[in-house]
Amino acid sequence: MKRLLSIFILLLAFTGSFAQNSDLPNDFLNKGWYKERRQKLRESLPANSVAVFFANAVRNRANDVDYVYHQDPNFFYLTGYREPEAVLFVFKDKQNAANGTQYDEIIFVQERNAMREMWTGRRLGADGTKTQLGLDQAFNGSEFKKYNVDFSKFAEILFYDFKNDVRDNARDSADLYSLIEEFKVKVNYPRKDASTLNVAQEQPKNNLNTRGLYKLMADLRGIKTPEEVALLRKAVMISCVGQAEVMKAIEPGMSEREVQGIHEYVFKKYQAEDLGYPSIVGGGHNGCILHYIDNYKPSLTNKELILMDLGAEFHGYTADITRTVPVNGKFSPEQKAIYELVLKAQEASMAACKPGVEMGQLTTVSREIINKGLAELGIIKSADERHMYFPHGVSHHIGLDVHDAGGRTLQENMAITIEPGIYIPDDSKCDKKWWGIAVRIEDDYLVNKEGCELLSGYAPRTVAEIEAMMKQSSPLDKFKLPALESIKK
Ligand code: GLY
Ligand code: MN
Ligand code: MN
Repeated sequence: MKRLLSIFILLLAFTGSFAQNSDLPNDFLNKGWYKERRQKLRESLPANSVAVFFANAVRNRANDVDYVYHQDPNFFYLTGYREPEAVLFVFKDKQNAANGTQYDEIIFVQERNAMREMWTGRRLGADGTKTQLGLDQAFNGSEFKKYNVDFSKFAEILFYDFKNDVRDNARDSADLYSLIEEFKVKVNYPRKDASTLNVAQEQPKNNLNTRGLYKLMADLRGIKTPEEVALLRKAVMISCVGQAEVMKAIEPGMSEREVQGIHEYVFKKYQAEDLGYPSIVGGGHNGCILHYIDNYKPSLTNKELILMDLGAEFHGYTADITRTVPVNGKFSPEQKAIYELVLKAQEASMAACKPGVEMGQLTTVSREIINKGLAELGIIKSADERHMYFPHGVSHHIGLDVHDAGGRTLQENMAITIEPGIYIPDDSKCDKKWWGIAVRIEDDYLVNKEGCELLSGYAPRTVAEIEAMMKQSSPLDKFKLPALESIKK
């Protein structure tokens, strides 16, 4: 009987914790990981300094609707906190609290509020921040005003300068706006008065350092930990499946928006919370617009390519993958020539990618091949002719930002893209047969000891792989919706 009772109690305990957590994923990075990140930052801080990070602002979409909240990547990297209206201090040295305890980090977060939580969702509050995020010194934002550390004693106060784009929620005296204004007073942040408006902003004086964090955070965030790599791999694989499924499903007559929707449906099916950036889906000439996010073209034609640059964001980490495919499933000779030239450039940059190499070198390698190839195809007159057919670099870091923080010299465990492209808009000064061809091939890589690992190879990449995938049938072939006009009310 006693045994039965203890099993019953055990069961209760299990169901209790399950009931508490079942509506949250169980694979977020743990509080120990974030604590270690803060410690690494602390170790890199200059003597007698403090680093200050503000949560991202809530942005208004229109009227009383805000954009879905997205945390500032630095703030998220150091805390795992996913709510707005907060500020974090990481001190180089131990500070003495009034009650005699010592601490080297402190966070002010948004207060719990039953009514607000009913409208906009659960809040961790100070207690939840302590227990779930492991920040022992956590307080409500309303307490920041009376937080009386003498900031003049620090040799340096490091923070990202303000962009003055934070709304004042007049009803809330502990919102981000208030935290920033109170911080400015505490640290003697220079005021911009009327006479300095319209001129370059006055540089902060004394111990305020608004530049130093860029490099410190880039050095940290640029090298991915194994836990981050696991999340990145997941984001990349989800995005690859999206590309593969679209290749099966796409056909002339489909809209850019529908193609976008298939990718994003796959992302959601795998529980990706977000997009790392607005999806770029451009048919024909639209592919020449590097960040084309309108995706308005109602009907893709039989003869054109479609350029699809999309990245799922999983637990904050984003992929960044581009595939370019013929809408009708078969590359024309001109499309194939351009595609294979871009692929050759990408392969060469990939071969050059290894620790010690400057990221700019990957662009140089691709550029040389593309210029030579364009000249051989007669699209430019000679390989050294200046042109606009390849107007961007080929590599950036990926991580919590799609264009992530990180150093420019490659090191093991950096995650980067390699993404050459050729874009030939209509009316270009070359034979008409090339007009409207836009190809970008973008893959994600993890730098390792000897070179780099292609993370996004699951998404078909060669002409043969793409054409073979596009011949496969799609489960969406059976997903037919009624014409809206045919629905009887
Ligand atoms: N999707 C943006 C980029 O490729 O950099
Ligand atoms: Mn990119
Ligand atoms: Mn991209």
